[in-house]
Amino acid sequence: MGESEAKAASEAKGAQRTVVITGASRGIGAETARVLAAGGDHVVINYREKRKRAETLATEIIATGGAASIAGADICDEASTQTLIDAVIERHGQLDVLVLNASGGLERGAAPDYAMTINRDAQVRLVWLALPHMPAGSRIVFVTSHQAHFHGRKPVPADYEPIAASKRAGEDALRAMIPELAERDIRVLIVSGDMIDGTIIVRLLERRDPDAVSARRDHAELPTIGEFAAAVAAAASSTAESGTTTYVGGPDYLAGSASRVSA
Ligand SMILES: NC(=O)c1ccc[n+]([C@@H]2O[C@H](COP(=O)([O-])OP(=O)(O)OC[C@H]3O[C@@H](n4cnc5c(N)ncnc54)[C@H](OP(=O)(O)O)[C@@H]3O)[C@@H](O)[C@H]2O)c1
Repeated sequence: MGESEAKAASEAKGAQRTVVITGASRGIGAETARVLAAGGDHVVINYREKRKRAETLATEIIATGGAASIAGADICDEASTQTLIDAVIERHGQLDVLVLNASGGLERGAAPDYAMTINRDAQVRLVWLALPHMPAGSRIVFVTSHQAHFHGRKPVPADYEPIAASKRAGEDALRAMIPELAERDIRVLIVSGDMIDGTIIVRLLERRDPDAVSARRDHAELPTIGEFAAAVAAAASSTAESGTTTYVGGPDYLAGSASRVSA
């Protein structure tokens, strides 16, 4: 199917949006896919390695009446990312929401510059590749953590420092694109969360350094995957000003912040 035919097909199917969620084979991305599909969107579940997991999720969504498909791509690889966008456009004609959820840097044996590669460079490249196919009114949602969002303003554990710095650099790079994106009527929304209960990362941390997790729990109950995913999904339809940050959990981070809508 050519691009114009795909676009016509997409218009004919009505208001269903096409949403790409990076790193949606598990955790927060997978739950966000469930929420958005339940709201009527077609979700494209991107994964890097775990095809079976992505397939199982798509099957589950379709079985409950939703629309989903899977698309394997390593967002750190330019050709792979281009193939992801091409496949989405070939099938849907356009891309209405891009959820930048995939993240990395804590993997064992990762190169020292890997965090910056995935958390900044890959995010920016994906936006540039997607942009020509995003109509006016589209949204880009960047998923981050309080430790990254508040990097430089609040202390960060030493082993998370490269991830926090690189995710903040990714956020800053996307914020720098806001004026250009605004000319196309495309918004950037940021969703930042405290440690999210039930994620693999927090479960591993709890095993390795239980005090770090209990110290966070001392401030307030940790948000669940469901709560965080609901905020990410809400941002995908937000009419807030471009650059708005939604905060989930971590009241101690927010105390003393000038505003709940901050850069
Ligand atoms: N976990 C938390 O407590 C927490 C708190 C605040 C914010 N966040 C943010 O929420 C987001 C999701 O976190 P999570 O804990 O749910 O993540 P996760 O469980 O570690 O899942 C990572 C996902 O990203 C995919 N992925 C990794 N590298 C990739 C690459 N190069 N290309 C494409 N996909 C890739 C993985 O796919 P495969 O499995 O197929 O390789 C997997 O689906 C991240 O942006 C994170 O910073 C997390």
